[in-house]
Amino acid sequence: MFVSSYFTNYSSKSIFWFSLISLISFQLKAQNVVIPIETDKHILLLQTDEDNRLMTTYFGARLNTSGEYSEAQEMFQFDDSNAGIYNCAYTPAGTWNLSEPAIQVVHADGNPSLELVYDSHKTADESDGNATLTSIVLKDPVYPFQVTLFYRAWKRENVIEQWTEITHNEKKPVVLKKFASANLYFARKDVYLTSYHNRWAKEMQPTESKLVRGLHSLDSKLGTRAMLLQSPNFILSFGQPAAENEGSVILGQLAWSGNFKLEFEVDSYENLRFITGINPYASEYELKPGEVFQTPKLIYAISDHGTGEASRNLHSWARKYQVLDGEGERLTLLNNWEATYFDFNEEKLTALFKDASDLGVDLFLLDDGWFGNKYPRNGDNAGLGDWQENKKKLPHGIGYLVKEAEKAGVKFGIWLEPEMVNPKSELYEKHLDWVIRQPERPEVYFRNQLVLDLSNPEVQDFVFDIVDNLFTENPDLAFIKWDCNAVIYNAYSEYLHKQGIPQSHIYIEYVNGLYNILERIRAKYPKVPMMLCSGGGGRGDYELLKYFTEFWPSDDTEPIERIFMQWDYSYFFPAIVTDNHVTDWGKQPLKFRTDVASMGKLGFDIVAGHLSEKDLQFCKEAVSNYHSFKDVVWHGDLYRLVNPHENDMASLMYVKGDKTRAIVFNYLVNNRQLLITNEQPVKLAGLDPGKKYRIREINLYPETKSTINSNKTYSGDFLMKVGFNPDVSLRRTSVVLEVTEVN
Ligand code: DGJ
Repeated sequence: MFVSSYFTNYSSKSIFWFSLISLISFQLKAQNVVIPIETDKHILLLQTDEDNRLMTTYFGARLNTSGEYSEAQEMFQFDDSNAGIYNCAYTPAGTWNLSEPAIQVVHADGNPSLELVYDSHKTADESDGNATLTSIVLKDPVYPFQVTLFYRAWKRENVIEQWTEITHNEKKPVVLKKFASANLYFARKDVYLTSYHNRWAKEMQPTESKLVRGLHSLDSKLGTRAMLLQSPNFILSFGQPAAENEGSVILGQLAWSGNFKLEFEVDSYENLRFITGINPYASEYELKPGEVFQTPKLIYAISDHGTGEASRNLHSWARKYQVLDGEGERLTLLNNWEATYFDFNEEKLTALFKDASDLGVDLFLLDDGWFGNKYPRNGDNAGLGDWQENKKKLPHGIGYLVKEAEKAGVKFGIWLEPEMVNPKSELYEKHLDWVIRQPERPEVYFRNQLVLDLSNPEVQDFVFDIVDNLFTENPDLAFIKWDCNAVIYNAYSEYLHKQGIPQSHIYIEYVNGLYNILERIRAKYPKVPMMLCSGGGGRGDYELLKYFTEFWPSDDTEPIERIFMQWDYSYFFPAIVTDNHVTDWGKQPLKFRTDVASMGKLGFDIVAGHLSEKDLQFCKEAVSNYHSFKDVVWHGDLYRLVNPHENDMASLMYVKGDKTRAIVFNYLVNNRQLLITNEQPVKLAGLDPGKKYRIREINLYPETKSTINSNKTYSGDFLMKVGFNPDVSLRRTSVVLEVTEVN
């Protein structure tokens, strides 16, 4: 550590002796441990300094010679006399650091200082050699307090997961005031951040800006779902704004389903410090001696070839290693929410089963409104929490519906919102102590409801039992839509109070309680597909996606808006996890709506019985086409070809792994000018230059003819260099092309 100002009061002779002594002691204590965290193409280099603190010395393209790893540190001459050391790999508070800390604690004796020095590390191979897990133990030299940093590096995918474990052996609890998952340092200037901001039906709106000196933070204090207002997803682009096919980027997410915080600090060298973790807001955590506090994972993909490569890598990592059944199949469906809202009965539903079967989808999904008797769920103001079939609407129960659906040739799925309660419910009357609320203050509602206290094990049992009972009574139940429509106001837990646990644990224990329930559900029902839903903000986070097969990105299904939204979600999530439904939102024709919904997991939320003959014929054909190409969309590689944020068009292409087949979706997204046509060809991507391909337009509306000549063949080379014109125009606002290898 350079602390030049320490010398100012000494004579030159004493400086000489002081320097010599420091040099000797530094040589004695410095271990100069170099720890490389390596993927196939990138490296994060960590190294201890002369004080044995762990520093980030390099983050970038992989170096050819490991013998040179230790040289990186020498190349940066940061004078830390101003604000401490910026490039510390996990920055403590209360000692030498004056910039934003990664961790801040108050020891058992009330002392608020923390120092962390390297103690040991180990690296182990995982996942058949495709990953390494490195753990580095840092200890406080004065207190029995330690932090272990974890780095899992996925080689082929160039993805890194980072998290920490915090523990101690002090005499009494230590208060954790801040506890980041990761603390990265980029010695790079001109960094651009893309972040995502939302509100109901306007989720995932991107904004990109160059980070300027100072601290910029994004966070959530909503308690339950992370993504309503700001999202824990980010893209960092180095040296230039993020581009699809060029430039160094990292993109990822803090995988935590509660309050998060992302902090970007441009230091006095104009380098970037990035610290992220659970939001410390109102969340001081009393850690008992011997207890281990594990932080959530920061997950990111790294690329020197832009966001396209980074997101393809993140998608394939997610499908293979993170999302439940990520490489498996999904069920297309007909949902009754927008078709009936709360107003249905057995007759209406059985008619919809027939619609589902006519459309050719796999499943009928019964939405909100099927439960509650004392307080029937006929609107969003009553019944939530009372999970018994409403006798009036469903006199024969769920079992009957499952059977009737089966008779119609479709599976049956059901909606739940098990984390929440309406005050107008039997559950609320019986178990006020299970509700998160301030006992002495007026209740504050979000969509007329309150949140259950998942920190309470009894409440966890209650939620588990809702799912367990449904499956026990209806073993053929094939799908669950798990909704979440409230945030936590008046954060207070009766349970924590009774247990003598501080209220500041509530946000963290809520999320841990949710994970406990899901662990139990998945131990008993490992594969039943479940959709994560959250009207307003989505709930797409990679920790929850360990338990869920898919998520609902937004209630906004207006297809033009949706193209933008799906485009922006696609940086982070593979198509197989995003559920898109054809609804009556907006003014676009049915073909347009169906094509847009086909870029993900297709569903319908319309009354198929009200469709015209031609519309129904179109839908049937589109569903059948979808079944023929869904494998390419779900498991293939995504190439974002034409960006709707910058053009009148959008074009996205999914390519099968062996490059024998691809599906290209093209849309007109601006119809302000009357004569828009796309004069330019769209350069395709991801094909094999040496293969020959035929291009055929599919999803044609009945009685329309394609302008595409499907008899011609083109080389992959031509299609990727010159491109292909999908002939999008005001008459052809949505064009789906199937690209097939010709042998
Ligand atoms: C919000 C969801 O986004 C909708 O799809 C629907 O399930 C409603 N909740 C039901 O209350």
